[in-house]
Amino acid sequence: MPSNMPDTHQSLRALLQFYADCGVDVALSEEPINRFADTSASAADAAHQHGTAFDPAVTEVPAPVATLAPTEGPRRRPPVTPSLTVPSGDAVMAAREAAATAETLAALRETLSRFEGCNLRHTATNLVFADGNPEARVMFVGEAPGFEEDLQGLPFVGRSGQLLDRMLAALGLDRTKAYIANVIPWRPPGNRDPTPQETEICRPFIERQITLVDPDVLVALGKASAHLLLNSTIGITRLRGQWKSYDTGRRDIRAIATFHPAYLLRQPLQKKLAWRDFLAVQEALNSTPAPASHE
Ligand code: URA
Repeated sequence: MPSNMPDTHQSLRALLQFYADCGVDVALSEEPINRFADTSASAADAAHQHGTAFDPAVTEVPAPVATLAPTEGPRRRPPVTPSLTVPSGDAVMAAREAAATAETLAALRETLSRFEGCNLRHTATNLVFADGNPEARVMFVGEAPGFEEDLQGLPFVGRSGQLLDRMLAALGLDRTKAYIANVIPWRPPGNRDPTPQETEICRPFIERQITLVDPDVLVALGKASAHLLLNSTIGITRLRGQWKSYDTGRRDIRAIATFHPAYLLRQPLQKKLAWRDFLAVQEALNSTPAPASHE
């Protein structure tokens, strides 16, 4: 190669590294999409379909909102559907209705895998529903899947999951004796924080999942999960370690928040507080008689 020719591979690698450093780690489509060209057309289409006037100020989310897609198993990323402008309340209502109809965990998983009201499904590789034993007496709920979880379709299988497994093991627990899920079942692209709207759309599904699992003890891992499940806005440092009540609609169950394992990886000194919370969980499990169905 002439010395003045750029090394294409090296340049491409540097470009990819630049994207990764910026948090861009998802290719949405094989073909580039000119968003400037298609925004007004698709939004006008949406307004027509929904019978509403087109208002460029309204939030864009991928559509359709209230429909279920055909059943599918683990998949590669589908092509991105064009954005449609829909009122965000519709997606939350659709999620509530869809979650309420699921009478079993299998039905809930199936419903979620076909639910199209949350834009995160379009960038995720797999639905990350849950792992562990649905008969377990303790349920852990994290925030949202990361890179590894998205690839495997299982919660907490990356580095923070390995720490969670070690903490469970220290209590004599493993995934055959615990049930693990997330508030958000699809990985947000680039591991960004889920938006409040995405969280509200996913809320009915995790709430239904908790009701169906009906654990004796519920553990919220990290601030986002704690705020949603314990209905609080207190900082996680103050909120953690306090016993609260979580109403499943059928009964009140004991609930507690602790630090997220990813935070503990960054702040190992906080492990001692998390360990205290795990011991409190163990004590609660030992002091609450196991119902017949859990034995
Ligand atoms: N962090 C979470 O909150 N959930 C996972 O499944 C993985 C990392």
